[in-house]
Amino acid sequence: MRVGVLTGGGDCPGLNAVIRGIVRKGVQEYGYEFTGYRDGWRGPLEGDIVPLDIPAVRGILPRGGTILGSSRTNPLKVEGGVERVQRNLVEQGVDALIVIGGEDTLGVAATLHDEHGVKVVGVPKTIDNDLSATDYTFGFDTAVNIATEAIDRLHTTAESHMRVLVVEVMGRHAGWIALHSGLAGGANVILIPEQRFDLDQVCAWVESRFKIRYAPIVVVAEGAMPKDGDMVLKDGTLDSFGHVRLSGIGEWLAKQIEKRTGKEARTTVLGHVQRGGTPSAFDRWLATRFGLHAIEAVRDGDFGKMVALRATDIVRVPIADATARIKTVDPLLYEEVGVFFG
Ligand code: F6P
Repeated sequence: MRVGVLTGGGDCPGLNAVIRGIVRKGVQEYGYEFTGYRDGWRGPLEGDIVPLDIPAVRGILPRGGTILGSSRTNPLKVEGGVERVQRNLVEQGVDALIVIGGEDTLGVAATLHDEHGVKVVGVPKTIDNDLSATDYTFGFDTAVNIATEAIDRLHTTAESHMRVLVVEVMGRHAGWIALHSGLAGGANVILIPEQRFDLDQVCAWVESRFKIRYAPIVVVAEGAMPKDGDMVLKDGTLDSFGHVRLSGIGEWLAKQIEKRTGKEARTTVLGHVQRGGTPSAFDRWLATRFGLHAIEAVRDGDFGKMVALRATDIVRVPIADATARIKTVDPLLYEEVGVFFG
């Protein structure tokens, strides 16, 4: 048995831990051989491979990024793309493919399995934690820790200058990073993509904070939108899954707050710092267990499934269920956190 492995979409701390879990168990317990595909779906599309064996995965557990590389290549958008992927898998003797990715990468895996019979097993990955059917994705905990530490640090500098500090965090469709880091970091306002915000209300919260002689911290997810208006973007570049490049809301918000309240407001955009570097212990634990269970699913011939976390158990769910809709923040949960605003 030869198993292909690829990592697609935005990179995420813990990808290497998954790869290591897959290879260690696959070689040691099942005697499988592995082929690494480079740069997400570009690998099987172009037949671009790297050797993947136990020496290749030594020492990678704490390393961020992915030894296989990643991309947002979408073979379904390439003329004859599906046939090319199928042909390369056959020619390279790959019997099954483990696909580690988010909504887009796994969406391709679901189509290849459900409509073309490709033997795939999925592993959920994204710092955004917005995949349905799993309680958590790995990478999220690390991103939240990084954002929380940044918010902690920003409190002291904000107070020294009595400024408003706006912190823009990642989160395209879902505000999980903003909500968790904002709560953990004691932010005074948290804005998420799921709930359009009222600028007057944001300014009222900011002013009430100044009244008690504290400088407000506003955490905003990159996909958050004002009630009257559209998503604020720096440019309109699209990736091959049709997603526009985000970031810009933080700068825009600071300007609006400054104009309306007369208080100095600055922005910190955390950007890719949230995705880089070593994974947290929780993410190493979760990613490793996902890897072990993914190769077990291959051994069982249970294809078209994704491994998922349910409470403390790893279960298998149809990949199509996980990608059918995004897991967003429940309005009641957001309301619960609202007690700390202002
Ligand atoms: O999907 C994960 C993510 O980090 C999003 O939060 C963000 O919008 C996007 O990737 C950024 O992607 P890129 O690094 O390709 O611009």
